[in-house]
Amino acid sequence: MRIIAGTARGTRLAPVPKNVRPTSDRVRESIFNALGQFFTGDVLDLYAGIGTLGIEALSRGADRAVFVEKDRRALAAIRENLRRTRVEDRAEVVAGDVGRTLDRMVTDERQFSLIFADPPYRIAATEVGCVLSRLASLLTPGGRAVIESGEALAEGTVGKKGATRRYGGTYVTILEQSETTMIVAVCPGSFDPVTAGHLDIIRRASKIFDHVVIAVGANLRKKPVLPAVERARLLEKVTVDIENVSVELMDGLLVDFAREQGARAIVKGLRAVSDFESEFEQAQLNRAMFPELETVFIMASAEHSFLSSSAVREIASFGGDVRGLVPDGILETVREIYSGSDGNI
Ligand code: PNS
Repeated sequence: MRIIAGTARGTRLAPVPKNVRPTSDRVRESIFNALGQFFTGDVLDLYAGIGTLGIEALSRGADRAVFVEKDRRALAAIRENLRRTRVEDRAEVVAGDVGRTLDRMVTDERQFSLIFADPPYRIAATEVGCVLSRLASLLTPGGRAVIESGEALAEGTVGKKGATRRYGGTYVTILEQSETTMIVAVCPGSFDPVTAGHLDIIRRASKIFDHVVIAVGANLRKKPVLPAVERARLLEKVTVDIENVSVELMDGLLVDFAREQGARAIVKGLRAVSDFESEFEQAQLNRAMFPELETVFIMASAEHSFLSSSAVREIASFGGDVRGLVPDGILETVREIYSGSDGNI
């Protein structure tokens, strides 16, 4: 393999260690064609392998490059390649784990105009998601991230999707800094059980936010009929077709949960004026504890303005028909579970 362009053009790189899969010449050339041929600023090369991408960027004028890799033989190859291409004085090699290194860089407020992330294909999608979600704060305004993967990135992995191109078995996605910011909202409630009205609000929220986390929580003023795990299971069943929605249990304060999830907003449904007073109070209290977290209200659809979990529980407990009041997929389960209850409203 050789450097394609710039000051080190034509320099032959060190042999590739066995378990390392460097970006092929063809993919590297296409990436740099898409990025523009030459540039300035600092570069971060994650899962650097033998360092081909970062070194290619240094050769084409990048100011400095940081290479992060944990494989010992790959690290030795990076150092050898920096020496061969005479760019050692502009390079920093970090031996270690990508996740931990990124955490440190975020704390140190490091900034890069270009980030390459070429995670080994065997790395779990969740780890890739964690890494990608931290890129936003490391990119300068207008900076770009180039992500290589063995399969197309799932919609919503990194917020709005950049342009993805396929080269054989390699997918390359180039994201602008503005496209890496994922806006997460938390949709909290006791969901005892989830109603058609809840699902309508969740669906509409999923179209506004990049990701919606449904938080199945405890309302101290209510004693739930169904344990939280069961309520979460019903929610998972009815939201399985919405890609950017996930379901979590919430033990403590909503604001703490939102912080852990990196959420920017709380989403709630509002049915009638009667909801307003309690929602206004909660929104004010949550705002006092976490001012950056906005509470956003979505107005219930007219056909759901009368609908509540307590009404569903009461109707089901007397053997009434809850069709249309809860999502079809859980109709039978709700009938079975709540018909035996005392209504508990
Ligand atoms: O569906 P519900 O019962 O109206 O949901 C209420 C819920 C769970 C959203 C609310 O009680 C809540 O946020 N609980 C978490 C504890 C908390 O943060 N309390 C302070 C809110 S002012």
